[in-house]
Amino acid sequence: MARVIWFSVALLILISLSLYSYKPLDTLPFSTSKFPKKGIELVSPDELTLMKQHVNYAAAAYCSKQNLSNWTCGYRCFGNVTIEKMFHDNAKGAHGYIAFSEENKTIIVAFRGSLDAVNWIYDLKYAQLDYEFPGIEGALVHGGFYNSYDIVKNTILWTIQWMMTREENSCRGYDVVITGHSMGGALASFLAIDVKRYILDPILSSQTHSLPPFTIHLTTIGQPRVGNHIYAKIIQTHLISQTSPLKHKVSRITHRNDVIVHLPPSSRGFIHHAHELWVNNQEQSFFCDDIVEEFEDPVEDPECLAGTKWFDLGPHLSIWNTTITPLC
Ligand SMILES: *[C@@H]1O[C@H](CO)[C@@H](O)[C@H](O)[C@H]1NC(C)=O
Ligand SMILES: *[C@@H]1O[C@H](CO)[C@@H](O)[C@H](O)[C@H]1NC(C)=O
Ligand SMILES: *[C@@H]1O[C@H](CO)[C@@H](O)[C@H](O)[C@H]1NC(C)=O
Ligand SMILES: *[C@@H]1O[C@H](CO)[C@@H](O)[C@H](O)[C@H]1NC(C)=O
Ligand SMILES: *[C@@H]1O[C@H](CO)[C@@H](O)[C@H](O)[C@H]1NC(C)=O
Repeated sequence: MARVIWFSVALLILISLSLYSYKPLDTLPFSTSKFPKKGIELVSPDELTLMKQHVNYAAAAYCSKQNLSNWTCGYRCFGNVTIEKMFHDNAKGAHGYIAFSEENKTIIVAFRGSLDAVNWIYDLKYAQLDYEFPGIEGALVHGGFYNSYDIVKNTILWTIQWMMTREENSCRGYDVVITGHSMGGALASFLAIDVKRYILDPILSSQTHSLPPFTIHLTTIGQPRVGNHIYAKIIQTHLISQTSPLKHKVSRITHRNDVIVHLPPSSRGFIHHAHELWVNNQEQSFFCDDIVEEFEDPVEDPECLAGTKWFDLGPHLSIWNTTITPLC
């Protein structure tokens, strides 16, 4: 019963938000005269190519098991990718796949977003949970997102470690690309920290193994806010600012005035982690100005999505030339 009520409330909010915000799609969230903006830079073509690949990996997570299993789902399933494992948790909504690309020497983990009512309830359940991390106190994250992640966490970490250490089809030294759309982006952020903590970083994980260092790419698309400023700071310190032995890469891709990116509200103590890559349209994608120094608190760049005045659900469901829906 409570679930039904929550779902109705969530649906009503979303419908009213998108009606309230309705405007022709070619209208910008704010005036173009502000471009090019101070402090933020256009994303280079090479970088865009890579980001579009990661977006397609995330979009592919919505396709059926049959299509995914042999990597035949249209443009989203590009290149030669071998699916290693798919995970589905119907109770709490964690869905996705683990794969590898021998040609590009990458392990790919992709999470899809919320598809059904139960998932939406978790999306809008704001209860914050203590996030445990060595040496850090006061980190809080969205309880619904974390509980959803927690169910698949060990399977995924174990699979990645296995792929890296096995003899046949070894993915030793491969980059790890972790991507996800919507709530899947929140789950991806948890996984990126855990891959760093439990597989890459022998000091934190207190296990001895002989894995060579690898690069972690965390690329999320239209992710909601996940935690408080201390959680955002963990991503800053342990992924974005780390340059030794390898530099990791965090891209929080946002599209125009996507309403989901504005949720849960910052008034509840939630703030996004860096590094936002804001897509205004096909030609204009920006690196936002939100990377802070060691002792500063995280910020959301008001020149990017945080500064948009209206919200819309449409930009959540497509980006660049990729449609992100279960229809594929
Ligand atoms: C893909 O896999 C499914 C079963 O997983 C099979 O039925 C189908 O024929 C395969 N398609 C191709 C093109 O190999
Ligand atoms: C998905 O798989 C089915 C059956 O294997 C196939 O007919 C269909 O073309 C595939 N879809 C895409 C987009 O490739
Ligand atoms: C690997 O990278 C190349 C060059 O960017 C690209 O053309 C190819 O589609 C990629 N393959 C996969 C599976 O990502
Ligand atoms: C695709 O990758 C798999 C696994 O790395 C490999 O066995 C297969 O030969 C590749 N296929 C093509 C067409 O390159
Ligand atoms: C994306 O779509 C636009 C408009 O449909 C088209 O002009 C452009 O060539 C496409 N870009 C890519 C990279 O496919």
